[in-house]
Amino acid sequence: ATTLGASAAERGGRYFGAAVAASKLSDSVYTTVLNREFNQITPENEMKIDATEPQQNQFNFTNADRIVNHATSRGWKVRGHTLAWHSQQPGWMQNMSGTALRSAMLNHVTRVAGYYAGKIDSWDVVNEAYADGNGGARRDSNLQRTGNDWIEAAFRAARTADPNAKLCYNDYNTDNWTWDKTQAVYRMVQDFKQRGVPIDCVGFQSHFNSGSPYPSNYRTTLSSFAALGVDVQITELDIEGSGTTQANTYRNVVNDCLAVARCSGITTWGVRDCDSWRSGGTPLLFECNGNKKPAYDATLSAL
Ligand code: XIL
Repeated sequence: ATTLGASAAERGGRYFGAAVAASKLSDSVYTTVLNREFNQITPENEMKIDATEPQQNQFNFTNADRIVNHATSRGWKVRGHTLAWHSQQPGWMQNMSGTALRSAMLNHVTRVAGYYAGKIDSWDVVNEAYADGNGGARRDSNLQRTGNDWIEAAFRAARTADPNAKLCYNDYNTDNWTWDKTQAVYRMVQDFKQRGVPIDCVGFQSHFNSGSPYPSNYRTTLSSFAALGVDVQITELDIEGSGTTQANTYRNVVNDCLAVARCSGITTWGVRDCDSWRSGGTPLLFECNGNKKPAYDATLSAL
């Protein structure tokens, strides 16, 4: 096929998606590329806690709905991002702790997953709960301080609120199989599967740059997690660089996903370089004018 989404679909029903900002859906250069090439969307910011519950128990789904409607009207999948996270919390939540915070977090999970039930293919239920560096510890956060079981509590609440969505754990710097953080997340998923905590998938953000480059054991990481009985997805892909070097890394990432039966899709974190959260960087597949980059050609030909 001649587009990313259609080619991925021919590869075992996989998807190829992009993070989308609601504010850009009125940019015709952006939507022309989006609508032609992709068949999955992750809202870049619009489903985060500060966006959907700006005041406690007052929910706002306006911008998230614009993205969900754009996707579902075209038959695309939506990855909800994200129900429980230490970052981009509204002020009222940042100041909470203890049992009050635990209840507020579970209420948030229940209300947001419940509102979108039936429209979400997969949820990033919990995002970035592990610390960087050696040791494989949990990240310290107000949510972590409510008790080590906060992650499984969030997954159980999400399952009750939307029994049909696939429930995922999502993180970064979990791509290199030898890193402590990767092994710690692996042990958590293994434990959840053994104890029947509802988890269906693991997202690998895969923001590759000089500090955390694409690792040659990436395929081992994806296949090792898949062997635990979860699907894996590449959820926020961007690769620092340009030209042939960048194109080759995109090709390697696609080949690694295709080599793992349970790697069900790839999402780039934006559409064009100028949409990237990496200001000044050029980590994506399209130039700002919508032209395809060498990385695009490498990606499409690998699919
Ligand atoms: C980023 C967005 O792209 C930015 O617009 C925002 O200012 C900060 O968050 N990991 C994640 C994403 O899970 O939610 C982050 O998105 C990028 C890193």
